[in-house]
Amino acid sequence: MDDLRRAFDPEVFRSTGHVFVDQLADYLAAALRGTTPVLPAISPGEIVRVWGSEFPEQATGGLQSLLQRVIESSNHLHHPRYIGHQVTAPLPMAALCDLAAALLNNGMAVFDMGPAATAMERSVVGWMARQLGFGPAADGVLTSGGSVGNLTALLAARQAKAGFDVWSEGAHAGPPLAVLASDQTHYCVQRAVQIMGWGAGGVVVVPSDAGYRMRTNALGDAFRRAQHAGRSVIGVVASAGSTATGAFDPLESIADFCRDNDLWLHVDGAHGASLVLSERHRGLLRGIERADSVVWDAHKMLLMPALVTGVLFRDGARSYQAFAQEATYLFAGEEPQERWFDIGARTLECTKKMLSFKIYAALQVYGTRLFGDYLARTIDLAQRFAARLREAPDFEIAVEPQCNILCFRHVPPGVADLDALQLQVRQRLLETEGFYLVQTRLRGKQFLRTTLINPFTSDADLEALMHEIRRLAASA
Ligand SMILES: Cc1ncc(COP(=O)(O)O)c(C=O)c1O
Repeated sequence: MDDLRRAFDPEVFRSTGHVFVDQLADYLAAALRGTTPVLPAISPGEIVRVWGSEFPEQATGGLQSLLQRVIESSNHLHHPRYIGHQVTAPLPMAALCDLAAALLNNGMAVFDMGPAATAMERSVVGWMARQLGFGPAADGVLTSGGSVGNLTALLAARQAKAGFDVWSEGAHAGPPLAVLASDQTHYCVQRAVQIMGWGAGGVVVVPSDAGYRMRTNALGDAFRRAQHAGRSVIGVVASAGSTATGAFDPLESIADFCRDNDLWLHVDGAHGASLVLSERHRGLLRGIERADSVVWDAHKMLLMPALVTGVLFRDGARSYQAFAQEATYLFAGEEPQERWFDIGARTLECTKKMLSFKIYAALQVYGTRLFGDYLARTIDLAQRFAARLREAPDFEIAVEPQCNILCFRHVPPGVADLDALQLQVRQRLLETEGFYLVQTRLRGKQFLRTTLINPFTSDADLEALMHEIRRLAASA
């Protein structure tokens, strides 16, 4: 019992917490200054060996040194030379909110298990829906990531448009279903479709144009192909923006196609929905207000710690159809709409973290302009970087960036295998621990891929990246 009492001792928590936050603040200072490695160069096998899995029976203390090791062996997203995947350098205050959410541990599913969490989630969801241009009937939920969000939205789409009650009767009770989506769609859409039991043919691919946007004049052909294959098409999934290149599908004309063919329009705005907050860039999302559902990740372009995703429905009643089953012990057997405050009826999660606090707090404490300014800053940076790469004879870009994702390759003269060179250069960059960027294949060619998501990445960092790539390629 003494051990348990000590483990819960508020004064120990206070003093440990002060040291803990001091350590995190030191990490933050060093990472923002760029004086830590971005990602330590260590292989999966090596690091697992170092960490071990033997635990003592008696208390040993040592949280401080453990946190230090965790920090040192992590990828440092606050480092301005982190330019890799679409996961942001979170606002430090949002991380503090996550700490409070963890300690309070209000599991949400039903109102009693998180009154404040429920209220803040309603406010955040309402705010997101208004930013998208949805009307007062809109509603939605927060959930754990874009993949779960896309599955949630597609489950609702299926219930609305399949023409039979798939939820109760099963997928075999009607014709096989399909959605149309471009060849640039994130893999989680294919995965969601296969989870729903539609098989690999459940996504009918629409080709993309030279800018990697869905070719909307090919939608009719894809629709007919699906029908020939015996598929009943329930909707179109548009990307805003796409993962590989940040391309925004033309939502207005996709919305027209959906209206004309009575299809559900789902917009995967995991990365790009945030752009509605930027006066200068929201034009890329014109037509999003006509979507039936939208997924919006706050851990990508809203500076939030992972994971927090809005799943937003133009007609809020649809949000009750994704998971239509009752759980009488939780939801008291009433019509789910009457218990709108028991949010677990509409999410894949039963127990769910208090996801809303960090967004609510950031909006309240910093105001909305911070986000618009941040978004514009990252996109401006990507455009300047693209211009710089275009000017350089030994670099080429895959496509003009529409947002803050930019793919490029190094093409020095006299190299026979340029694809291999990109892979080698990336590997060597990681070994130097000085930059973190990723790679992607586009139309048969290998590219280096950057997401300029850290608010403090500068032109000088990107100039240094070009210099470093040249140096490493020359010695490859
Ligand atoms: C367009 C798009 N949709 C969905 C996802 C998946 O989101 P999450 O990683 O939050 O599950 C991603 C992730 O990068 C994405 O880029």
